[in-house]
Amino acid sequence: MNAIHEQTALDASLLPLAGKKGLITGIANDKSIAFAVAKAIRALGGEIAITYQNDKTAKYTQPLAEALDAKLFLKLDVAEPGSLEGVIEQCGKEFGQIDFAIHSMAFCNADDLHGRVIDTTEEGFDAAMNVSCHSFLRMAKALEPLMAHGGSLITMSYLGAERVVRNYGVMGIIKAALESAVRYMAYDLGPKGIRVFAVSPGPIMTRAASGIANFNALLEADAVKAPLGRTVTIEEVGALTAFLCTSGSSGMTGQTIYVDAGAHIVA
Ligand SMILES: NC(=O)c1ccc[n+]([C@@H]2O[C@H](COP(=O)([O-])OP(=O)(O)OC[C@H]3O[C@@H](n4cnc5c(N)ncnc54)[C@H](O)[C@@H]3O)[C@@H](O)[C@H]2O)c1
Repeated sequence: MNAIHEQTALDASLLPLAGKKGLITGIANDKSIAFAVAKAIRALGGEIAITYQNDKTAKYTQPLAEALDAKLFLKLDVAEPGSLEGVIEQCGKEFGQIDFAIHSMAFCNADDLHGRVIDTTEEGFDAAMNVSCHSFLRMAKALEPLMAHGGSLITMSYLGAERVVRNYGVMGIIKAALESAVRYMAYDLGPKGIRVFAVSPGPIMTRAASGIANFNALLEADAVKAPLGRTVTIEEVGALTAFLCTSGSSGMTGQTIYVDAGAHIVA
């Protein structure tokens, strides 16, 4: 390193998330929103544990965990009793305290997603609600003892929570419950300095999105409608989410924050 570089090189201890530690769920591959969130958090100096859902996704996520220099790489299936609590226990052992956690998981049976909402089966509704919403509440409960000094909990929602989006079906109802959960959780956990957010990205082609019928049409329509004239990237979602983990957002909690090139403001 030459003298100029030495003078201008960033001192890692001054990065916004230096010394901060957290859990990032929902990385399936390098197109996942959670992967871009993990990259942004690492760039700001945060240390991370990341999870993979099963052995099938492990082969895609293991190299990503290595590239991210994740401290822990753990199997997590939130539909399996005890799995989430076990992961958080291991995070507690590794990190001692947790400063942030990212919930970027959703699931709905294809049959329930594609039909009318009134045709959703009870089992299908329960399964989708459990993975996509209730697991965020359980995550907060298990993390609470590790967050005695406060921190940020962030989940991913979508405009279908607020408006009817064609082909989003029952997931719209579940995302609405998730956004409401964010407000109630923020109220309950605010006295402990734990801040809770939903980030609401515009449509992005990911594995989960490919399960939504006519998703390409949704992408094209959003790009036309959005004031910025385009859709967003996972990196843009990552940057916003990382900011919500920093003290720069210390005056905020309970919101759903859109990162959608402004599409949601246009009828
Ligand atoms: N892609 C979009 O257009 C978009 C827009 C708004 C919100 N979102 C939300 O972003 C989040 C991440 O989705 P994505 O688009 O990055 O897709 P993705 O397929 O990359 O990520 C979804 C993740 O959910 C995980 N998951 C599903 N069931 C699980 C279970 N039982 N246990 C543990 N993990 C489980 C999968 O393993 C996967 O990693 C979801 O909540 C999704 O609804 C996506």
